[in-house]
Amino acid sequence: MKFSLNVDHIATIRNARGESQPDPVSYALMAEQFGVDGIVVHLREDRRHINDRDLRLLRELLTTKLDLEMAATPEIIKIACETLPELVTLVPEKRQELTTEGGINVIDNVELLRNTIEELHNYDIPVSLFIEPEIEHIDAAKEIETDFIEIHTGVFANALTEEAQLDELDKIRLAAKHAKKLGLGVNAGHGLNYNNIKLFREITDVDEVSIGHAVIARSVFSGLKEAVRDMIKLLNNLQ
Ligand code: PXP
Repeated sequence: MKFSLNVDHIATIRNARGESQPDPVSYALMAEQFGVDGIVVHLREDRRHINDRDLRLLRELLTTKLDLEMAATPEIIKIACETLPELVTLVPEKRQELTTEGGINVIDNVELLRNTIEELHNYDIPVSLFIEPEIEHIDAAKEIETDFIEIHTGVFANALTEEAQLDELDKIRLAAKHAKKLGLGVNAGHGLNYNNIKLFREITDVDEVSIGHAVIARSVFSGLKEAVRDMIKLLNNLQ
């Protein structure tokens, strides 16, 4: 299972003092050296973490791949078409939320998403839709020609009982299998950490996970090199 690192939280720490350190761009470049398969950033309408300068430099300097998480709004779509990331992941975005709270409702937003995907495809940018592990949303996503889905794993990560967690894991397993059958690339993320990844890694139809908070939190204590190394070992069943 591949591993892309979300570096938004490094920008959050930087922005807390309005200064230049810690720099999410330097952090992303170090993470690449330590073995991650890609870097994820979410350019929000309010620029609360990653900003336009970060995105420009990441585009210029990354040697793995850049996954730009974003809402389907005209301003951000224009930036994506100028930046040409290796992947755009479309997410729902609410101003008041602390973090993305769930997947996009593909069925209710089908026209907006279809048009956005078409526009991004005109620039040869592959698109992923962040969605719940629901078959009807996966079918709708395929219908509007997404290239990938990213399955929301927040419900799995936040489950209060083992039973609820295993139920959600089954749902994700079936959703991933279904998406694979339809020929979609399958990513997953939200709330994955050094504990729950041991269950999650058994879902072989997931190609790649996007993890931010847990790895950045651990790197504060252990250093980034060890934090990345430990997650890669876990994803490859070596720990
Ligand atoms: N995937 C998406 C679409 C997200 O919005 C986030 C959170 O920024 C993540 C993955 C990573 O979540 P976490 O920081 O909990 O690992």
